[in-house]
Amino acid sequence: MIGAGIDRVDGRAKVTGAARYAYEQQIPGVAYAVLVTSTIAAGRVAEIDTAQARALPGVLAVLTHQNAPRVNGDAADRKLRVLQDDRVFYDRQPIAVAVADTFERATDAAARVRVRYERAPVATTMNVPGAVEYTPKDANANSPDSNRGAFDPAFASAPIRLDNLYVTPTEFHNPMEPHATIARWEGGRLTLYDASQGVFSRRTSIAKVFSLPESDVRVVAKFIGGGFGSKGGTNPHHALAAMAAQVVGRPVKLVLTRPQMFGGFGNRPRTEQRVRIGADRSGKLLALAHDVRSQGSRYDDFIENAAIISRMLYAVDNQVTTHRGVRIDVVTPTYMRAPGESSGSFALESAMDELAYAAGVDPLELRLRNYAESDPQEQKPWSSKSLRQCYAQAAERFGWSRRAPQPRAMRAADGWLTGMGMASSTYPSRRSSASASIALHADGTAFASSGGVDIGTGSYTAFTQVAAEASGLPVSRMHFDQGDTELPPAPNAGGSQLTASVANAILAAGMVLREKLAALATADAASPLSGRRFDELTFADGRVALRAQPSQGVAYTELVRRSGQPSIEARADLQVDRAAATPYSSNAFGAHFAEVRVDPDLGLVRLTRMVSAFAAGRIVNAKTASSQFMGGAIWGVSMALHEEGRIDERTGRYMNASLEQYLVPVNADIPAVEIILVDETDPYVNPLGVKGIGEIGNVGSAAAVANAVYHATGVRVRELPITPEKLLV
Ligand code: MOS
Repeated sequence: MIGAGIDRVDGRAKVTGAARYAYEQQIPGVAYAVLVTSTIAAGRVAEIDTAQARALPGVLAVLTHQNAPRVNGDAADRKLRVLQDDRVFYDRQPIAVAVADTFERATDAAARVRVRYERAPVATTMNVPGAVEYTPKDANANSPDSNRGAFDPAFASAPIRLDNLYVTPTEFHNPMEPHATIARWEGGRLTLYDASQGVFSRRTSIAKVFSLPESDVRVVAKFIGGGFGSKGGTNPHHALAAMAAQVVGRPVKLVLTRPQMFGGFGNRPRTEQRVRIGADRSGKLLALAHDVRSQGSRYDDFIENAAIISRMLYAVDNQVTTHRGVRIDVVTPTYMRAPGESSGSFALESAMDELAYAAGVDPLELRLRNYAESDPQEQKPWSSKSLRQCYAQAAERFGWSRRAPQPRAMRAADGWLTGMGMASSTYPSRRSSASASIALHADGTAFASSGGVDIGTGSYTAFTQVAAEASGLPVSRMHFDQGDTELPPAPNAGGSQLTASVANAILAAGMVLREKLAALATADAASPLSGRRFDELTFADGRVALRAQPSQGVAYTELVRRSGQPSIEARADLQVDRAAATPYSSNAFGAHFAEVRVDPDLGLVRLTRMVSAFAAGRIVNAKTASSQFMGGAIWGVSMALHEEGRIDERTGRYMNASLEQYLVPVNADIPAVEIILVDETDPYVNPLGVKGIGEIGNVGSAAAVANAVYHATGVRVRELPITPEKLLV
């Protein structure tokens, strides 16, 4: 059952509308909250007049910094200490919230809040006076700097030297479902129905803001319309909804408008990445330096850890990486799918492509010449690595051998230039503590659960499969539930870790269940299983049977009856110490191959096809996994060609805060994307051999497209996105 590409178990509920997303929960007596957000990027709210808003019919309250409840001062996170003072630190910072009996009345009231600001001067880009560079304590939990060998002399004496700057723009998360939450107080207890990537981490942070014990907070997140990192952390609207519900004494719904999604909720920060490569004439790396500057806010630290990938992807003895933050007047950035690796891979894999041309070596061959047989940074063996197979299978399917070596050498019949590019992909395989339980009922069905969240990736389906396999039941008799702090704890659906964490907990709970079933089955003197050892038994199709003689067995239903209980319960709590030393390094790997067509007169770029292969240990569901990889690959195309949060440098406001002006690809932009799942067995990464697939699809795909554009045109664009004017040189 594990591995089969079965249809989504929640597919029917989703297409019929039976699946209720956070904002769709039907809560009696609910009121509606609408945010008022700042129209300056730095300064203070000098005056705020809510009289007109409050006078409207149906308006229950208008909260500002002057009247909002005080929240926990220890919460270091400024974004959660919202409406606590008059300061403005970024464009579209929430400065008030209007609450009314209908959404329309709340919207009307929000529009009638009058604000007078005192503006402070703003620094709005990373290279102007007022932008302050700093050395961070860490780069997204990694050490900011690394150093091995001796970069300077190795680079200075290298026969081939490249030194280039790559720039990635600010990107905004735009899941189909915007941020939304419903806050309900019952006595002193708070419940959030939330668009969240993790109910337990949300509970921890919101409990802290309101000085509540965690046991007095419940968070429910049953269906999520995409998160991509933006729904991982707790955001201003969570605190505001809970405050508003407290003040009006009713449950409160709060949903962001699409433009508000470009506000106080983080983004992938703009990066400037200097990559220096020293190589010998054959393209073998002698020295590699990757220095990252990551745009950030005045009031909090977040670093796009873009150079981490350069520490481990290729074998190179002499290497330096650095991360620096640059404080300007913008919101604090946050995690966005493959934070670090996706922007870092654009720089590294573009630079490797440039090296391939400089050395006169095929780009794929260049990667093979620099293949890291072990982790060059940690100096450990890989628990498994099948990147060679990814290269080979994707290159074959793509037809890489038909590529002309020189740029601008391939042209279609209509005169458009054709280009082929490739890039490597990788993402670390992580795992955190997780718990799971299984209850086997007398009717032969079972209920399994773990409190993670399916953010749209298909984890309901994957975990149903794992629970069925672990319990020895068909998928049709297994029901899996998640997305609620009342269920066994699980980590966030983030960092590509949920499946590895929860699936192993389910597997362990299944083992506990099997032991209980075995004890019941072998204790009966009249049974053919009497006195048999555990390893003589099999558990499948709802029966315990003799391995050597499968016709001899007993049904689970009979064993539940014998237990004298309504159900047989099993639970596992797996503790994972992420800081503990391990003998192996574990990463998933992949390769993207992209073909583009470019209009030589207008610089228009069209992706024509893409083939991407991934090896990520055991794949739990081939169908949902392919979709996940494909979504990531497509997002890389979007990074290469479309997305850019554009700031007005005079005011610090983001100008294209809508899906009309902030471009994301539509179906017409994405023709054929083919995903290859490369078989890989990893005996070390975790008991199930699952590496995690959430983010790797997005790593390297922008570089593959950019490299294809170079191959088509001979123009190297080092600042994304690749827009027509950058090609008309
Ligand atoms: Mo992901 S950016 O770790 O939600």
